[in-house]
Amino acid sequence: MSKTFQIIFFITLIITGKFSIAAEDSRQLVKLPEIMQNHMLSNMRDHLESINLILLKMTNDQLDQAADIAESRLGMSSLKLHGASHMAGFMPEAMRHAGTRMHKAASRFAIKAQEGETLPAYKALTEITSACVACHAAYRIR
Ligand code: HEC
Repeated sequence: MSKTFQIIFFITLIITGKFSIAAEDSRQLVKLPEIMQNHMLSNMRDHLESINLILLKMTNDQLDQAADIAESRLGMSSLKLHGASHMAGFMPEAMRHAGTRMHKAASRFAIKAQEGETLPAYKALTEITSACVACHAAYRIR
């Protein structure tokens, strides 16, 4: 096949929709009452802000403060703050587990950070972010 022919061939496939560039959205839709949706998304924005603050503290060698933020805003101590028990009732079981994995990873990170060694702390931080990614890959609420 000549180069030009190959290009025309692929463009035709794309235009006729036989070959889609955008990946299919295979995430499971979890329907929440609107007020819960807003609550959950606001928690999520707080999660992202917390991760950012943790990174800022870590780059300043303030591992103790990184640990405090992780435990109080993402860890097992944060469940009440986020209304987790109320929220959990609306989630499928596997999604609840994904949430628990994230909270537990954050508490484990807090312990690692308190130990004061940067590299193991960064490693523990990636376990938190991996838990964020895993849930996002599987579920959507809108
Ligand atoms: C138990 C599942 C779960 C976990 C764990 C989770 N998220 Fe989410 N997150 C979601 C869902 C579901 C949405 C909404 C996706 C959609 O429908 O658009 C979302 C949305 C978001 C949004 C968008 C908020 C907005 O206002 O649109 C941000 C930011 C976010 N998550 C950050 C995080 C971060 C950071 C973590 C980890 C520290 C995390 N999330 C952990 C399920 C999760």
